Amino acid sequence: MREKDLHGVRLLVTGGPTVEPIDPVRYVTNRSSGKMGYAIAEAAVRRGADVTLVSGPTHLDPPAGVTTVQVTSAEEMYREVLDRFEAHDIVIKAAAVADYRPAHYAGHKMKKNDSSLVLEFVRTPDILAELGKRKSDQFLVGFAAETNDVEQHAIHKLKQKNLDLIVANDVSKPGAGFDVDTNVVSIYSRDGLVKELPKMDKRAVADALLDEIKGIRDG
Ligand code: C5P
Repeated sequence: MREKDLHGVRLLVTGGPTVEPIDPVRYVTNRSSGKMGYAIAEAAVRRGADVTLVSGPTHLDPPAGVTTVQVTSAEEMYREVLDRFEAHDIVIKAAAVADYRPAHYAGHKMKKNDSSLVLEFVRTPDILAELGKRKSDQFLVGFAAETNDVEQHAIHKLKQKNLDLIVANDVSKPGAGFDVDTNVVSIYSRDGLVKELPKMDKRAVADALLDEIKGIRDG
């Protein structure tokens, strides 16, 4: 019985892309729609959790009953998530955070000329890795979007970032990953495969993930 089974649990989830500005009118981003993170927030609040959603720019409505914090860049997401980390029991990082941002922000619109343009990119802070370093008793869950050797990459990431679970999806598969309403995921812990799920609506994936987290936390 799932109803209100997460009562009293403080859950922080991130969703959506981040947007990294080049100049006042241009930016780099990715194809994330935010659907997975929002589905997790909605499922968790329905099950009685106190939910905070830190979201990059999306076209989705903020879910009812969820404290939604809107951010734009990876650095902003870093600050908002780190500030809230200690006050939460479960943190699920479903956002597609940009790994790189333009090294310099041009304060004015960049003018075109006849030569080619080279932009320098620098790394953004890895939010999840930082949470892994700081965690005390929080339960930490990451997502891994891969196109090949999914299991190997996912387990490597889980260990490297000190996570409790990782949700891996092969974004090259139809019906999985960015923008679509469904997902095809496998959930791994330090001990290996926990659950391989068939293609499911993202809302059903959210509930299945919360079931696994609850099962592990409750022992
Ligand atoms: O290493 P990779 O970026 O593929 O790991 C994906 C996981 O790390 C996702 O859960 C994503 O939200 C998180 N991440 C992060 N900060 C970054 C990059 C990724 O929290 N700068």
